[in-house]
Amino acid sequence: MAWYHNAIFYELYPRAFMDGNNDGYGDFVGLRDKLDYLQWLGVDCLWITPVFPSPLRDDGYDISSFYSIDKMYGMMEDFILTIKAIKDRGMKVVLDLVLNHTSDQHPWFMDARKSKDSSFRDYYVWSDTPDKYADTRVIFVDTEESNWAYAEMTGQYYWHRFYSHQPDLNYDNPKVQEEMLNIARFWLNFGVDGFRVDAVPYLFEREGTNCENLPETHDFIKKLRKMVDEEYPGILLLAEVNQWAKDLLPYFGDDDEFQMCFHFPVMPRLYMALAKADRTSVIEIFKDTPSIPKNAQWATFLRNHDELTLEMVTPEERNFMWDFYSKDMRQRMNLGIRRRLAPLMNNDRRRIELLHSLLLTLPGAPVLYYGDEIGMGDNISLFDRNGVRTPMQWTSAENGGFSRAPVENLYAPPIMDPDYGFSSVNVESQQADPSSLLNTIRNMLHKRKNITCLAEGTLTWLEELPVSVLCFWREDKNSKLLALHNLADAPITVPLPAGTFGNVLNTDTYLGEISMQPYGYYWLKLQN
Ligand code: GLC
Repeated sequence: MAWYHNAIFYELYPRAFMDGNNDGYGDFVGLRDKLDYLQWLGVDCLWITPVFPSPLRDDGYDISSFYSIDKMYGMMEDFILTIKAIKDRGMKVVLDLVLNHTSDQHPWFMDARKSKDSSFRDYYVWSDTPDKYADTRVIFVDTEESNWAYAEMTGQYYWHRFYSHQPDLNYDNPKVQEEMLNIARFWLNFGVDGFRVDAVPYLFEREGTNCENLPETHDFIKKLRKMVDEEYPGILLLAEVNQWAKDLLPYFGDDDEFQMCFHFPVMPRLYMALAKADRTSVIEIFKDTPSIPKNAQWATFLRNHDELTLEMVTPEERNFMWDFYSKDMRQRMNLGIRRRLAPLMNNDRRRIELLHSLLLTLPGAPVLYYGDEIGMGDNISLFDRNGVRTPMQWTSAENGGFSRAPVENLYAPPIMDPDYGFSSVNVESQQADPSSLLNTIRNMLHKRKNITCLAEGTLTWLEELPVSVLCFWREDKNSKLLALHNLADAPITVPLPAGTFGNVLNTDTYLGEISMQPYGYYWLKLQN
């Protein structure tokens, strides 16, 4: 079993995590200071969002230089020391690798846009008209009308799948491919353990297709994997491929593409099952999920730095989700919902815990998002997805202990409202309270580590029980666990399946049937 099969991942925005030099921006010095916390929490691998120089019009996913870190995070030495400090603790770290596009402020594009003769012209995709590749959807539907943008200086259009200030790289140009492999090598040389590879499906364009998941894209990923296997054995490639399970499967290849892919279709269905008190959609999506190569693993998640995407549901399901979880239209964004976990759950501790229990017991390695472990809130008045990227809340002191800079100098205002603000929601007070959300989630994470069947055990549903409960067995040769979840806001008593002899992990009760509180959950581990 590779390390990532059973790892707990934790995604963090360094800018939002801890400010070490009190300039109002989180940085590597601050992050180093908080590694004790992450280790205490039970995190095995950090995913650090882009830290490269950037005009920050897409929060760092618009890169203007691939070979350094933005000075707001510190010097290169700070980065190196931080990687070392993470590794010294036995933790792992993956960086974002943004393959698909650059910022329009990247020197390649600045040069390319000037003249058709630029030696970088072919690094990007150009056309005389905006009509090519007409079958390709627009992803950021709230801000972009087309995947083409006009470049005045040369009178041609350039291709972009995301913001128009993020021109797509031209993977038909072998030089682009080589550049991107070199960028990967550059960061791997610092000892990072892998990459979360951003926006993978869109690398190539072909007329008459939707320009997603093309065979050419798979060929390039195979090249990337071959390079890392040969030159940096053991490196993890984790794909951001927001597609249906059948289109995800090829990204594992024959164990020659990614070792991990985020399971995008599962995520919204966890929320849907809870909203409807009906497990059906979760079971269906797992039944539709093909089995993956032996060395592969799914990455599962509840929330991340983006909107809660509803691309992988039907239009009816999307409308249901929007109506249920984002009554305020401002919470809707593109095909999703820009809210954090705790507010999505109306700050209902029972439902926040229940979703974590599902995340930790269903197949896949869990990826947590910073701040959700303490139930942080969001700020709808901030632009784009920035409302879910506010400063981490460490203490009840000024700026939530994130920074000692004057509040107006912070990169974003901390959350200060009575329900979710740092005075009531912060790490320090929750660490001190054994029954806090933080301590509860921490206990679950630590328990999970020792239950090997949760890493790669089989999954068997208990479908004879009422639809409002989501119960299943996980089993491998060393362990067997029965996970029980009550999705409804009403108590229920369910019979335990024949032959259950259990050590109940979170209660002392053991009966032939089990009563569950509204939104209650149990992990029953079979004694070996
Ligand atoms: C990925 C990132 C998202 C970004 C987009 C374009 O989907 O997760 O934050 O906006 O790529 O770079």
